[in-house]
Amino acid sequence: TKLDMELAAIEKGGFDHFMIKEIHEQPQTIYDCLRGRLNAAEGTIKMGGVDNNIDKLLNANRIIVVACGTSWHAGLVAEYLFEELCRIPVEVEYASEFRYRNPVILTGDVIIAVSQSGETADTLVALENAKEQGAFIFGVVNAVGSSIARISHAGAYTHSGPEIGVASTKAFTGQLAVLTMMALKVAKAKGTISELRYVELIRELDAIPGKVAEILKDTTAIQKIAEKYKDASDFLYLGRGYNFPVALEGALKLKEISYIHAEGYPAAEMKHGPIALVDETLPVVFVATKDRFYEKIVSNVQEIKARRGQVICVATEGDTVIPGMSNDVVYVPDADEIVGAMLSVVPMQVLSYYIGTYRGIDVDKPRNLAKSVTVE
Ligand code: G6P
Repeated sequence: TKLDMELAAIEKGGFDHFMIKEIHEQPQTIYDCLRGRLNAAEGTIKMGGVDNNIDKLLNANRIIVVACGTSWHAGLVAEYLFEELCRIPVEVEYASEFRYRNPVILTGDVIIAVSQSGETADTLVALENAKEQGAFIFGVVNAVGSSIARISHAGAYTHSGPEIGVASTKAFTGQLAVLTMMALKVAKAKGTISELRYVELIRELDAIPGKVAEILKDTTAIQKIAEKYKDASDFLYLGRGYNFPVALEGALKLKEISYIHAEGYPAAEMKHGPIALVDETLPVVFVATKDRFYEKIVSNVQEIKARRGQVICVATEGDTVIPGMSNDVVYVPDADEIVGAMLSVVPMQVLSYYIGTYRGIDVDKPRNLAKSVTVE
């Protein structure tokens, strides 16, 4: 009815779809996630779930992240964070594989469960099994009071608010914000980070909501790119380091809501297969921001250009090299690579959204997908 339609429009806050509304909420949702925890002026991070169990995390021989889908990609970022900042070995597991593999769980293993809904069946059962075997379970969950939140020994909510669009967006950046704060806290307590670097990274994290807002202020450049490539039949996404999981997430977002086949790969690994796909019809999306891998990425871009691929780069504002090598460029503000994924993923989300809508797909409810997969 007309009333239903009007109510739906109000819920979407003036946006055409929940997905784009949720993308645009990210400056606020990331801020809400940091609020009351991160204090940049004092240089402190408060997280009850971490503070009350700091011994478990400090003494962890290993961290195992268990998750599915987009949450698994957040887990991959956590692997880089915890290994680099805390010097704790990390495994990142698909819950569905982990639960059936008869995994080795040792005393001193900490499991970090990452889930937006807190109801994903495979994740839930994987955690139940691990808990029985004595693992300590820390939940990074969005849905308050959900099953995964309840079976965890401790946890930290992402405070991203209800996510309606099937393709996860704001929950992902919330997960990254929580995982980054956790890694910083553990690193500080363990002494694996210098005071200077700790303070610097707290400031970097504090600046993220504002930088995400900057990216979202004007997305017409991304819309144009979406229009240009909307009829492609395949996409390749490449990134390195903290942006390798972003490449995977970019490809997943595109598949989910545009039905275009897409693959994400670590940029250097593309030589071992995907490069065979490159011709003038293949759009290749690079995360080419100014981090420690920048020079390497530049040569990967050249390799794709030499094979006449269509190069679309997510680059750091002010970069003068990448534009000369790319067909299209989207800029993100400069940031430390530790927090950079929260920025570089945003253009990926926006690009997928517009490609999906240009193709006439119901992006909030793409075919065959469920928001919460409660069956295995
Ligand atoms: C489904 C959703 C994805 C989500 C995944 C894991 O596939 O469509 O967006 O990333 O489940 O869900 P969770 O709620 O555990 O994060």
